[in-house]
Amino acid sequence: MGDKQIDLSKIDRDDLKLLISKSDINNKVKNISRELTKKFKDKNPIVICVLNGAFIFFADLVRNLDFDFEIDFIKLSSYGSKMKSSGTVRMIKDISADVTNRDVIIVEDIIDTGLTINYLRKRMLDAGVNSISFATCLLKKRKTYKFDFKIDYIGFKIPDRFVIGYGLDLDQRFRGLDSIYTLK
Ligand code: PRP
Repeated sequence: MGDKQIDLSKIDRDDLKLLISKSDINNKVKNISRELTKKFKDKNPIVICVLNGAFIFFADLVRNLDFDFEIDFIKLSSYGSKMKSSGTVRMIKDISADVTNRDVIIVEDIIDTGLTINYLRKRMLDAGVNSISFATCLLKKRKTYKFDFKIDYIGFKIPDRFVIGYGLDLDQRFRGLDSIYTLK
């Protein structure tokens, strides 16, 4: 589907179809938090939110973590205002913390081609982290993910569809929806 023919501003809530409900997301967030708690208890990791899309997943996740941690934020862009990855990653805002010799948990909303997390992985390895783990709410992997490294904590594997809500936008709209939707 080429996005050139679609006027994104005309799409409204009636055009959305539920893919993952609020309660399924909440249960999954609790499961991932439990797994992270087992692994990171006593390690005081830095949990890094990849802005913008991951902000809601991140906020829900950290409130369920039962160990000491620090937080930081990085802002990258690969989609721009389009409905598919542009193929390049732009750094808009870097992390502030010194991650050298620290354990870091990267929190993403969705992994598509993997370019963004590959960029992050390099950024963290260059900074000399002790360990790096990836947690994602969604993984749109089957056909599009191009890399070999493992995503440690995956919420849902979904088909290769454009998804909206729970932090994910359509041209900056709909990020506040509490469930995840596709376009009808
Ligand atoms: C989206 C998403 C991921 C990235 C995934 O970000 O939040 O960070 O694209 O795509 P990739 O695996 O092909 O790199 P986007 O550029 O839309 O920015 P946003 O989070 O601010 O909406």
